[in-house]
Amino acid sequence: MGWYRRTFDIPKEDSGRRITLEFDGAFRSTLVFLNGYFIGRNDNGYAPFRFDLSDFLNYGGKNCLVVRMDASFGDGWFYEGAGIYRHVWLTKTDALHLGHCDSFIRTALKGNSASLSLDTVVENQNMQAESCRVRWQIFDAAGKPVVAAETAPRSIPADGSATFNANTALMNPALWSPETPNLYSAVVTVESAGKARDAERVSFGVRSISWDADKGFFLNGKPVKIKGTCNHQDHAGVGAALPDRLQWYRIGVLKDMGGNAVRTSHNMPTPEWVEACDSMGMMMMCETRLMSANPEGMAQLETMVKRYRNSPAIILWSMGNEEWMMMPQSQGIRVIDDMIARTHELDPTRMCSAAVNASFETHFPEQLDVMGFNYNLKVHDDWHKAHPKKPSVGSETASTVSTRGIYSTDPLRNWVSASDLNHTSWSQLAEEWWKFYATREWLSGGFAWTGFDYRGEPTPYGWPSINSQFGIVDMCGFPKDNFYYYKAWWGSEPLLHLFPHWNWEQREGEPIDVWVHSNLDSVDLFLNGKSQGSKKVEHLTHLEWKVKYEPGVLEARGTKDGKVVLTEKRETTGKPESIQLTADRTEINADGEDVSLLRVEVLDKEGRTIPTAHNMISFKVTGEGTLIGVGNGDPNCQESDKAPKRSLFNGLAQVIVQATKTPGTITVEAYTENYPPPKLPAVQVSITTKKVESRPSVA
Ligand code: GAL
Repeated sequence: MGWYRRTFDIPKEDSGRRITLEFDGAFRSTLVFLNGYFIGRNDNGYAPFRFDLSDFLNYGGKNCLVVRMDASFGDGWFYEGAGIYRHVWLTKTDALHLGHCDSFIRTALKGNSASLSLDTVVENQNMQAESCRVRWQIFDAAGKPVVAAETAPRSIPADGSATFNANTALMNPALWSPETPNLYSAVVTVESAGKARDAERVSFGVRSISWDADKGFFLNGKPVKIKGTCNHQDHAGVGAALPDRLQWYRIGVLKDMGGNAVRTSHNMPTPEWVEACDSMGMMMMCETRLMSANPEGMAQLETMVKRYRNSPAIILWSMGNEEWMMMPQSQGIRVIDDMIARTHELDPTRMCSAAVNASFETHFPEQLDVMGFNYNLKVHDDWHKAHPKKPSVGSETASTVSTRGIYSTDPLRNWVSASDLNHTSWSQLAEEWWKFYATREWLSGGFAWTGFDYRGEPTPYGWPSINSQFGIVDMCGFPKDNFYYYKAWWGSEPLLHLFPHWNWEQREGEPIDVWVHSNLDSVDLFLNGKSQGSKKVEHLTHLEWKVKYEPGVLEARGTKDGKVVLTEKRETTGKPESIQLTADRTEINADGEDVSLLRVEVLDKEGRTIPTAHNMISFKVTGEGTLIGVGNGDPNCQESDKAPKRSLFNGLAQVIVQATKTPGTITVEAYTENYPPPKLPAVQVSITTKKVESRPSVA
């Protein structure tokens, strides 16, 4: 349970305006009080909610806001955070203003032009009628105005609202796709007697999507296989309260793997995750938390659809996940029908799905526009035969388990090999599910559980594991080896990845399983220059050798069209001699929000990264920044996520540093204490924080 208290000024001139407190989502059971008045409550932890404070404010004086949250109960079965973990806004508008999330821009591609249907709602909270018109100005990605439209003036009665719409067209629009995430924006303005009274900027994209029962998913008229991951919302060091930049970082990691889609399992995402997908080119299956037609369920669904329906990244709405008790019952059919009908009313441009893991033979899945399969590869083909007109997607697949940098499963230490060898009883290996999906044209592709490891649901082991081991990357975003299986078959570049590391002290002469993920024609393996054999790459399959260990250099040479195009080495390293600290960005914004992520490693005397190192490293952050979290991707690590020190886990740790609002330099020093040995020389990295205009905030 947590209480927040904030005192702020509201100027006298604001009297007569509408002032709203908006939460992007907070965990959970929120109660809001202002100046001693009870304002309202919100139960769930993910959907945005808002309260109009106008009647309760003290204009020209101090105001005291009190918020109480209670995370005793959860919305899900995974780590969900607690308290205010997304942004909260104080929004001031004229009493004549645009409706909340009512501006909807629909685009339809015809030849080389796109028609735009522009809709919005204006609310008049004045005591008298007002006459107004709405104007839309459309800007391209460079901020250049491209077209405009406006309505005739209309009168809106006191305390009334009216819908406004207009149509226009864009010639030769720059289409949105994962490769070319072109965005447009519309500035929607309410004008009365030539004066702008309220305005908002809505970002949108031009693209077409369609689903075909035989040929899968189409984007802009071309077939596109969905190479997706499901993700929860937490990250190492910061829990569920991610600075915005981390959303961009996380999407970057998944894109680097060749991923083109994410599923927001199992809740409405934070707006910045959707913005990152729109701007970076990542398609999205957007899911609501509750599969229910009760008032709370419908309200969450409506909020989600209205909030995000302009987002080009969203290709599919999900009505929820695995409500297997409800699916075989008649209630389940009525609930899903109501949810889908309401979604189509609010957004006629997208299809609806749900994540189905049981009751495949019932009428429930037939209600969905697009069938969503969770696991259960055995039923896919028969279901498709029985429902030849229904498009399908793998809403959830994989649940492969692996620990980064570990090469033998050890239940006593809660470790699972990072080779593609382990999954739960209901799931599959990366190679199994992707082979299945990649070779069936009618399956639109799928979403692997999960992209990132996440806290909670510590599978396959319980305590002292504190996070799941389902991730293709760990809690920090450091790739496990399966990342390269996906990158080989999802990405577009030639790839060669050799593992494990080659530090097997005291195992001389023992056979070591050596794997390669590659999309080349063949791979030759050498140990200390001696050939270990050449293997042909089979489509969608890894390669394996058994190699007797001797220290030295293990090398893979990958051949394409008869030429060696890539080589990879794993070398036996020496002892730690130095620390290496690498910032993902050395210049960030001095806005009190931006972050730099530092990768921490130790090197031997030849400057080679030691992949098996577990040294404890301490950090000192000085200047215009603060340390907000540390992590190392170890699913069993009990160290503090906030302390200025962290042990490496299989050679890696991560430090997250956040800028203050004063431009300058942040210095991050990494050093070792006298104990435990070895003592390594301290190293420093400087990050410049540059002056930017900070977002307005309540002082
Ligand atoms: C699924 C479920 C996910 C997660 C996963 C673990 O059935 O939808 O939330 O629990 O299993 O494999």
